[in-house]
Amino acid sequence: MNVLVVGGAGYIGSHCVRLLEKTGHTPIVFDNLRRGHADALPDTVTVIEGDLGDYGLVHDVLIREEIEIVMHFAAYAYVGESMQDPLLYFENNTAKSIALLRAMKDAGVRKIVFSSSCTIFGDSSPSPLSESASPYPISAYGHTKAGFESLLDYCSKAYGFSAAIFRYFNASGAASSGEIGEDHSPETHLIPIAIQCALGQRKSLAIFGNDYDTPDGTCLRDYVHVDDISAAHVLAFPKLQEAGKIHIYNLGTEKPTSVLQIVTAVEKASARKVHYHIEPRRDGDVPAAYADSSKARNELGWQPQFPDIDSIVATAWRWHSRHPRGYRSDPDEAP
Ligand code: UFG
Repeated sequence: MNVLVVGGAGYIGSHCVRLLEKTGHTPIVFDNLRRGHADALPDTVTVIEGDLGDYGLVHDVLIREEIEIVMHFAAYAYVGESMQDPLLYFENNTAKSIALLRAMKDAGVRKIVFSSSCTIFGDSSPSPLSESASPYPISAYGHTKAGFESLLDYCSKAYGFSAAIFRYFNASGAASSGEIGEDHSPETHLIPIAIQCALGQRKSLAIFGNDYDTPDGTCLRDYVHVDDISAAHVLAFPKLQEAGKIHIYNLGTEKPTSVLQIVTAVEKASARKVHYHIEPRRDGDVPAAYADSSKARNELGWQPQFPDIDSIVATAWRWHSRHPRGYRSDPDEAP
């Protein structure tokens, strides 16, 4: 199928593009390349550089490329930044995404796979979090995701859109080949930062709080491999055949992992020491967030290929150690 991958040069989008090619689909990437990386994409794929909010361009591309499904990965995704500049987030994640939906409606393309986030749950419900937990976002970023989920619901009823919505828990890891991986600027995520410490690029990992009511006092998260996330997207295609239906899935390995356990996993993968120190809790962090993904397993036959943290961190280490400056790394730069 011809799939428009909006935000396809980003971390999760670029992994999904490779899977689409591997499974016989034709991905066409639409990305403004501001936060994504052209180097994350295979040479075989058509890349259209453009803005999500450019109704005319998106509409043209949908028709010209005979798009059947849109995958929407394009979003700003820093919780802290969203609190400092909410307009940026609502403009990019909401207003421009509305332009995308309008272009889809007018072009007669009504199948969409949307990247949502476990962040929509805030701290209102205890883990494990299933799809029946109520959204209660506590950041501007979370509101943009929850709001777009609601909008898709209305669009399904009013215009017959069909959608698969995936709420990712902590997307992590990298392609097993070591060719592509995570490269955010600035980097705020735990695993890449811990790896930067192992690589000697940072002196010490700041652990944000060790006084939570968790087994070792640090926060629990559900780290799920980026290729497993991609696999779920493709498995959902048959669900899109029925017009007017929305399917929502929480995606995680269902295994809570603490910050200190990540330190241990990185030390194991790298055979290096990760120095750390304790800092105060970070605003907005919930003590524990992990998934109940039984719906994805039962309905889609989704089965994570990287079910344990060591296998996930091993792929992340391979990517970061071979590309210590991300996509800006020179060949053979590995330490
Ligand atoms: N952490 C540290 N030190 C760091 C970075 C993170 O101790 O330098 C801790 C955090 O406090 C948290 C855990 O590591 O307990 C994971 O933090 P990340 O920043 O890696 O991930 P989050 O759980 O905050 O983020 C995830 C997704 C985001 C999403 C967010 C919403 O990765 O995309 O949940 O809560 F927006």
